[in-house]
Amino acid sequence: MLKRQVQNNIQTVIGHKGYGKTVLTEALMLLADKPTIVADPRFQYSTDQKRRVGFKSVGEFRKWIYNSTNFKDFYRYKLELVVNAFDDTFEELAQIVFKMRFLMFVVDEVDMFFDTRATAKNSLYKIIHYGRHNEIDLISTSRRPANISRNLTSQTDIFYFSKLREPTDKKYIKDAIGGEYVSKVEHLERFSFLKFQDEEHQEIIKTNERDIELLERA
Ligand SMILES: Nc1ncnc2c1ncn2[C@@H]1O[C@H](COP(=O)(O)OP(=O)(O)OP(=O)(O)O)[C@@H](O)[C@H]1O
Ligand SMILES: [Mg+2]
Repeated sequence: MLKRQVQNNIQTVIGHKGYGKTVLTEALMLLADKPTIVADPRFQYSTDQKRRVGFKSVGEFRKWIYNSTNFKDFYRYKLELVVNAFDDTFEELAQIVFKMRFLMFVVDEVDMFFDTRATAKNSLYKIIHYGRHNEIDLISTSRRPANISRNLTSQTDIFYFSKLREPTDKKYIKDAIGGEYVSKVEHLERFSFLKFQDEEHQEIIKTNERDIELLERA
């Protein structure tokens, strides 16, 4: 019998400021139900929720995760570790994540860390291309798709686009999923997204107040 190939799932969320990317991402994290590490450079993620632990720096996170009791708790309780990683420390965070297994990695504002100049040396590149061996799933968000590395675009399994109108954004949509979807994305309401896997699997989805309530209680 053929053994099912283990895959990592790569989801990419793209949209304007304030159009609901973070709320959608938190909902996707809840659905995935995995131990999660979030790179949060803009302090978007509250750490009030029961399963969340916040870290003000990658150094602080490193010390915590290298403790074996903490490491076990991360997997046992499927914790969500929110790390304020910035330009100069993100690479170290991605390196630590790449050495781990069976988890979800969330990168907010991914173009800050992985833009069109990114190379195969970047640990995020390794997570994207070889993460399937370690079962590392990835969700990333961005406001500016034109800046995102094509390495991420080409490996994305599911895109979520909110309303985008700039010519460079439209070009990105055309190149990533096809010109026929540009007008669909242009006319989306706030908090609505075009979820696109392939031509047969695409739909408009919308988060709502109830999702936010559930997320606050999670
Ligand atoms: N479906 C929704 N219904 C009502 N309010 C929402 C919904 N989704 C998000 N919001 C609210 O709208 C605001 C912006 O949402 P969110 O932070 O998710 O946007 P964003 O796209 O991540 O923004 P940014 O680009 O600044 O990161 C927040 O105050 C959030 O609580
Ligand atoms: Mg956000």
